[in-house]
Amino acid sequence: MDKVTLTRPDDWHLHLRDGAVLDDVVHWSAERFGRAIIMPNLVPPVTTTEQAQAYRERILAARPAGSRFEPLMTLYLTDNTPPAEIERAAASGIIHAVKLYPAGATTNSDSGVTDMARCADALEAMADLNLGLCIHGEVTHPDTDIFDREARFLEERLAPLLERHPRLRVVLEHLTTAEAVAFVRNGPERLGATITPQHLLMTRNDMLVGGIRPHYYCLPILKREHDRVALIEAATSGHPRFFLGTDSAPHAQHAKENACGCAGIFTAPLAIELYAEAFDAAGALDRLEGFAAHHGADFYGLPRNTDTITLERAARDIPADLPYGDTRIVPLRGGTSVGWHLHTATPGN
Ligand code: DOR
Ligand code: ZN
Repeated sequence: MDKVTLTRPDDWHLHLRDGAVLDDVVHWSAERFGRAIIMPNLVPPVTTTEQAQAYRERILAARPAGSRFEPLMTLYLTDNTPPAEIERAAASGIIHAVKLYPAGATTNSDSGVTDMARCADALEAMADLNLGLCIHGEVTHPDTDIFDREARFLEERLAPLLERHPRLRVVLEHLTTAEAVAFVRNGPERLGATITPQHLLMTRNDMLVGGIRPHYYCLPILKREHDRVALIEAATSGHPRFFLGTDSAPHAQHAKENACGCAGIFTAPLAIELYAEAFDAAGALDRLEGFAAHHGADFYGLPRNTDTITLERAARDIPADLPYGDTRIVPLRGGTSVGWHLHTATPGN
């Protein structure tokens, strides 16, 4: 198969940032995806429906001419999110999930949740209104090894949360471990999960052997080969609760190539191409459409896209760096190539 045509995919986990850089970031996703769940970890975070509405307008204004790319907004959950704010969010029609960052887990998570018991009322309101919860699943105790933080979260935090809120729809974001794959497989129907391209394609060796590569650093951090294999098996299995979420997370070049570099990998300019490469290597290109275009929409209760994209097997050079406001940004694979490229996209929807 040298060409593959699929229903236009959606990205169920995306960081676009805000302000001047939107013009440099949004178009990459808009060319590839029909919709995207937009992360709310701005500075300050998007904690109210009003803020989400204004942010959505700025994203819409940054779309290329003629684009129908639809940003699906999220609210940032804090210890103090009132149930009334959840009601406003659900009634808005533009907010499709609430994001839980354990405080201190990652970029701009300082206002995140310190104790899930504090959010019980907000979570019940979400269950009542069928507004799902997206979770950054890592514990944050300073004494927990960074490579164990996701696995520890599953039994310590996620299992009790699912038990306390038996009707809440949950997406465990950016799986990185074999343990998380097993947890989702064995979990209830209301538990879904996203998988990034970097975790399907790379391990911590890629990041650390022969020199430290800051552009491969993200959270949760890249894990071992046996974890990567479990993620590939999950993504290519056809299981409907695993779906695409890039976690494309732009940071300026100087903020990554730094003595204390930021977490986040910018994959938006080649995201669906990277997934095609991973599925192709696994001999599972026929499973890409389900993972990229069907499972997420079904899980979120949204219609599937009606237009298509076509990917072609042909090496494409990736620029070493790209414009990012008044600075530059290095995409994943910058200065090298990717084995697939976006050939055509039909209009639709
Ligand atoms: O690597 C990451 N970058 N992980 C996250 O959870 C946040 C993201 C960001 O916003 O930069
Ligand atoms: Zn993220």
